[in-house]
Amino acid sequence: MSNIVLITGASSGIGAEFARYHASNGSDVVLTARSKDKLDALAAELQDAHGIKAHVFALDLGAPEGAQVLIDTVTSAGLQIDILINNAGFGGQGRHIDRQITDELGMIDLNVKALVALSHHFGREMAMRGKGRVLNVGSTAGFMPGPLQAVYFATKAFVKSFSEALDQELRWKGVTVAVLAPGYVGTGFADRADLHGTNLVKGGGKTPASVAKHGYNAMSRGELVTVNEMPLGFLVNWIIPLLPRRSVLKMIERMQRK
Ligand SMILES: NC(=O)c1ccc[n+]([C@@H]2O[C@H](COP(=O)([O-])OP(=O)(O)OC[C@H]3O[C@@H](n4cnc5c(N)ncnc54)[C@H](OP(=O)(O)O)[C@@H]3O)[C@@H](O)[C@H]2O)c1
Repeated sequence: MSNIVLITGASSGIGAEFARYHASNGSDVVLTARSKDKLDALAAELQDAHGIKAHVFALDLGAPEGAQVLIDTVTSAGLQIDILINNAGFGGQGRHIDRQITDELGMIDLNVKALVALSHHFGREMAMRGKGRVLNVGSTAGFMPGPLQAVYFATKAFVKSFSEALDQELRWKGVTVAVLAPGYVGTGFADRADLHGTNLVKGGGKTPASVAKHGYNAMSRGELVTVNEMPLGFLVNWIIPLLPRRSVLKMIERMQRK
């Protein structure tokens, strides 16, 4: 039985670990990100280790037609996607008005627009077949506003809201949509987001392998929203919503400050 996963942002970090975990079950993978060399190396590793087929489509998903190019490429290759993992994303530290507007809008293009376009196309195909799973990688950042990463936190709030609603729309059609909302994870994320020196990063992070496994298993069980660290999950679900808004804003700002 076909069990092909399409993973965005598969060239490093959590995305590469999703690919390793899925392939270890003996199922094929479709890997996409911009870094073709890294994707090719991962594809070779997975094919050698597990005897599966790994397809590589290197492209910029944040480009205006990026998601459509990916959809067209997957369609031309005749691949049926059974699991979609929208994982590609990036953040960026600093006051919104001090940051480049191109970086802020680029974050929305990748973290939000590409995720919506892929969910729309593959979600529709899955619903027509009456079966499928979508896993959208959000963040604990999606549970609150984030001074000094204002746009990033807002994109992850979008991912959470959109995914929960989509799950309700599709579940009765046999398609589930899950959100993985990790706390800090030790990947290249902090480099690109320029987060080194912040309290968030100083606290240390979980490994991408443990986070990917947690999210993949939660998706397989049909869970809606999952946080990989239990105390953090309790904090964002049950404590933060009860705190005064101004205190939350100050607390998050302290975590993101250098
Ligand atoms: N690390 C954390 O602390 C943390 C916490 C919560 C949530 N998350 C989320 O987890 C997800 C994965 O991040 P990560 O921590 O694994 O970071 P990462 O190692 O930097 O991985 C990001 C992935 O996205 C890809 N990507 C970036 N820009 C792209 C573009 N324009 N087009 C296509 N692919 C692009 C990167 O590949 P290329 O550079 O090759 O394109 C890479 O494969 C993100 O959505 C992030 O927001 C991370």
